[in-house]
Amino acid sequence: MNDKKLYTPGPLNVSLSTKEAMLVDLGSRDLEFMDTVKYIRSKLLEIAGVSSDDFTSVPVQGSGTFAIEAVFTTSVPRTNGKVLVLENGAYGVRIGQILNALGIQTKTLKFLEDEKVDVKMVEKELMKDQSFTNVAMVHSETSSGVLNPIKEIGVLVEKHLPDASYLVDAMSSFGAIDIDMEGSNIDFLVSSANKCLEGVPGFSYAICRKERLRKCKGWSRSLVLDLVAQWEVLERTGQFRFTPPTHAMLAFRQALLEYEKEGGLSGRAQRYKENCQIIRDGMKSFGFKTLLDASHEGYIITSFYFPQHSNFDFQDFYSGLKEKGQVIYPGKVTKAACFRIGNIGHLFPRDMRHLLSCVKEVCRDMDITLPMDMKQDWI
Ligand SMILES: Cc1ncc(COP(=O)(O)O)c(C=O)c1O
Repeated sequence: MNDKKLYTPGPLNVSLSTKEAMLVDLGSRDLEFMDTVKYIRSKLLEIAGVSSDDFTSVPVQGSGTFAIEAVFTTSVPRTNGKVLVLENGAYGVRIGQILNALGIQTKTLKFLEDEKVDVKMVEKELMKDQSFTNVAMVHSETSSGVLNPIKEIGVLVEKHLPDASYLVDAMSSFGAIDIDMEGSNIDFLVSSANKCLEGVPGFSYAICRKERLRKCKGWSRSLVLDLVAQWEVLERTGQFRFTPPTHAMLAFRQALLEYEKEGGLSGRAQRYKENCQIIRDGMKSFGFKTLLDASHEGYIITSFYFPQHSNFDFQDFYSGLKEKGQVIYPGKVTKAACFRIGNIGHLFPRDMRHLLSCVKEVCRDMDITLPMDMKQDWI
């Protein structure tokens, strides 16, 4: 089995040294492992740009969705809990599904999936209804590539609902797109190990405002996803409550060292921006069209429309690329037929150029002449 290049929202490629860091078996009570957990927790706060006086990071076993569900089950009050969800894509929809499964009262403001959340409409809602105990939204909507205005929304939440908790799903942005947690009044930020920090899948984490987290004690509807309990045990013993993802955490420590070596957030952002630009320029030069207008897009993933060329078949396109070891992703928007090319993970400009040369070959095999003719191939 050979490694593939994953131009997807995850799982993502990781470095060989990150994988090699897992070749050690440690017990959950080994000092070396407990030091690793401590290092990871403090490093996450450093990356978030917040002080340990006011914030704490709580790792949660499982993929990113587990930490999102942990924040909701823990931080929505049991009696009068009501969450305002700002939704403009599949991951916003998932937030609604989590709340529904938890039986939590929810109001969802829906926005177009190819545009940012509209700040003015949110302000209108907040002026009309002040009964929300929590507000939630996604930062980088990986289903399309839209980058949402989390700071503007956070300022509004603070102004109109100072007692409400504000959750941001920063799954595909944390570590690569600057987030001003304090200035955005974020109380809970969630991400996972296998996104922009380039660890392996296995755990996620919430960066929590301590003052808010403390107040949530006893609210959790779940035993395993109780963030307060997880936090208390980690603080008291340095250990997880249940079997920890030891290998994934060892890999993450190595990934964090490599992140630092690359220049932290600015270094990582620079590489991802370059990756993204190469793909967007290259695909556009072939005649592919992007779903998003530049004013709405981030630099994590790009959605491209299926060309209307009679020879284009996404399954053949996908399989042709996969045979060459290049994995792209189907689209995840409802209103248009699209595919997505991600540019995060252990991918470099040379990989993006190689993907473009594979796209060229696969199009040739499908009898599609590049560049496509905008008049004939895009009816
Ligand atoms: C913005 C966002 N939220 C949530 C998730 C879900 O994360 P997971 O699949 O790790 O549970 C993803 C995954 O790509 C994501 O991009």
